[in-house]
Amino acid sequence: MDKYEILRKIQSEVEGMVQPKECAFLYDCALQCSQGVIVEIGSAQGLSTISMAMASKMGKKVKVYAVDPHNGGGATPDPGWWDMNDPGTPDPKYYINQGVSFTRFWANVQKFGVDDIIKPIINYSEIAIKEYPGEPIELLFIDGDHRFNYVRLDLELWSPFMLPGSIVAMHDSTYPGVRKAINEILPKLNFHNFVEEPVFHATKGQN
Ligand SMILES: C[S@@+](CC[C@H](N)C(=O)[O-])C[C@H]1O[C@@H](n2cnc3c(N)ncnc32)[C@H](O)[C@@H]1O
Repeated sequence: MDKYEILRKIQSEVEGMVQPKECAFLYDCALQCSQGVIVEIGSAQGLSTISMAMASKMGKKVKVYAVDPHNGGGATPDPGWWDMNDPGTPDPKYYINQGVSFTRFWANVQKFGVDDIIKPIINYSEIAIKEYPGEPIELLFIDGDHRFNYVRLDLELWSPFMLPGSIVAMHDSTYPGVRKAINEILPKLNFHNFVEEPVFHATKGQN
């Protein structure tokens, strides 16, 4: 199967929020990875995860760490923590239900035969970082909680592991929280070459 047949099959069999041209972009980025792993924050049922893992399998077979609490509901259950200037993560009592919707994600992963490439971390990004083995990252795809404080944490916590020249791609970049993080946080973390389409992405400079 060629790239377009693979992507069409994934699109037709896995539900998700990422558009075909965005999956194609992630596929191309993943195919290029050879020096470090891929990390995805926000996998849901695995549409983008499997797109990247299938490419990795065609390429250098780098691992895809797939971070998602799979809590059955989506965002971090913390309505009070919204775009405040509060440093640090919310109270751990808000972190509930991890894993309840993991089964469907993993069934999709197995259907496409990429369970050897994908390494799930079933937790919220800001907690998952403590379980991460610390491998250098060549591609970081952020599609988790889109509120500013969480996108900021995604960037601040995971970017130290990113290799010079590696790519951060951010979904839903027109959402206010994501856009604010692009404008305010990425430059501070030494990202450059901002490109808006088909998925917003930027390149990490030298540390
Ligand atoms: C928009 S969906 C991801 C869509 C997915 N990339 C796709 O291809 O369909 C957002 C996901 O982010 C997850 N999420 C929410 N808060 C998160 C957090 N703090 N860390 C990691 N994932 C989070 C949700 O559980 C949800 O599955």
